[in-house]
Amino acid sequence: MAKPKQKEFRTPRGTHDILPEEQPLWEKIQKEVKETSAFYGFERIDTPHIEQTELFTLGTGETTDIVTKQMYSFRTRGGDQLSLRPEGTPSVMRAYFEHGMWNLPQPVKLYYFGSFFRHEAPQRGRFREFRQWGLELIGEEGAVAEAEVVRVLYTFLDELGLKGVVFEVNSIGCATCRPHYRSALSNYYRSRVKGLCKDCKERFRQNPLRLLDCKEEKCLVIRQGAPQTFDHLCEHCKSHFRVFLEFLDEVGLPYSLNPFLVRGLDYYTRTVFEVFANEEVKTEPVKEEIPIEGDPVANGDDKSGSEGKTTQVPQGGGEVRRLALGGGGRYDNLAELIGGRQIPAAGAAIGIERVILAWKTGRLKLPEPQRPKVFLAQLGDLAKKKSFGLVEILRKANISVAESFGRDSIKSQLKIADKTGVEFALILGQKEALDGTAILREMSSGNQETVPQEKLVETLKKRLKR
Ligand code: HAM
Repeated sequence: MAKPKQKEFRTPRGTHDILPEEQPLWEKIQKEVKETSAFYGFERIDTPHIEQTELFTLGTGETTDIVTKQMYSFRTRGGDQLSLRPEGTPSVMRAYFEHGMWNLPQPVKLYYFGSFFRHEAPQRGRFREFRQWGLELIGEEGAVAEAEVVRVLYTFLDELGLKGVVFEVNSIGCATCRPHYRSALSNYYRSRVKGLCKDCKERFRQNPLRLLDCKEEKCLVIRQGAPQTFDHLCEHCKSHFRVFLEFLDEVGLPYSLNPFLVRGLDYYTRTVFEVFANEEVKTEPVKEEIPIEGDPVANGDDKSGSEGKTTQVPQGGGEVRRLALGGGGRYDNLAELIGGRQIPAAGAAIGIERVILAWKTGRLKLPEPQRPKVFLAQLGDLAKKKSFGLVEILRKANISVAESFGRDSIKSQLKIADKTGVEFALILGQKEALDGTAILREMSSGNQETVPQEKLVETLKKRLKR
């Protein structure tokens, strides 16, 4: 009887494995995240991957794409309504209240690094599980807060070697002036609704500000003549924005004003910004959703807070896009929405898969993975046992060692040692195991000497230094 066909398991759509060869880059990024956060006084916070759904409906916003289309929500066996976190800001604000952080000296500066989940159409650079580094600066009303967040992101990207990143900035006003802008926008769009895409017809009804986010060609054309936020800011918001820009000028940070940048999350007030990799990424023509396996790459049409931006469509099909690496802004209303009292705050998040994409397209040099310096080869049962113990002695002396205990032939073990690229091989046969010695072989020259096992660490340390 024919065997039933075995099911082939693959990563769920929109998720990806991070393979051993990619780990050095991830480690480098995490090291940079840790050092940059610490230098600017941000402390790490880890919040659960699941939260009450209401935290996001109230915090991120009931009408946002994230909440209406992208959240993974479910009812637990106990009857709780939970969601996989689509972003980190509401969780951090929840933690701020839950742990009484308003009692600490303000501002409280927190950062996080981890997975987030959005049920989006996967494309290059857009995943359903992706990693973010996020920064939240809570309890500071001055524009220095958002300027500091921008500065931290810039330093991080610069230190990683991603030159030429550029920030787009805007102010979307406050509770006083935004209604005026919103009604100016509604007035402008009212006679043009027919020409908008299906989603924008709905946006017009629910939240006209979101019309500015759409990347559909026909909506972009209509947007060209739309009123701009700058012209509708109240005096407080104008002066806040001016001060923010002065801080950026002070450190020579590259930015450009984008009067249509509104971001796709409801909690922002006043300053909003996004950061782009300045290089252009040529992608393959995208027919429909393409499953992404392996290569975490660029973006697509804008559905949430930030995605990539299409800048031109060259002949031959492929699109040239700019890569949105991260975004953020001031969010003075979020605390009140979920915690019942007003606390000013600003923050941002960077998409790590996108940073990696920018790194790869920029053809930056990948960090070399740490390789062991010594290979331990053995011949015979007793030697194998002794070698097994020797590994511990070398580990305690901080000498990294590779082995292949599953193999018995010295020839095949030395072949592997050669491939591993170690400087030295230690060889233990029956004789060496009995008389407490080991053969130290320099791989480049093939020179060998016999060393007493108790002198091995000392001898190796001297040789490895040369
Ligand atoms: P966001 O713009 O939604 O903001 O996401 C920030 C960054 O996360 C994006 O610029 C992008 O690099 C990355 N990202 C978002 N969705 C995906 C995806 N599906 N696949 C890959 N990368 C993605 C926020 O999340 C806000 N919480 C930022 C913030 C913090 N605002 C204030 N504080």
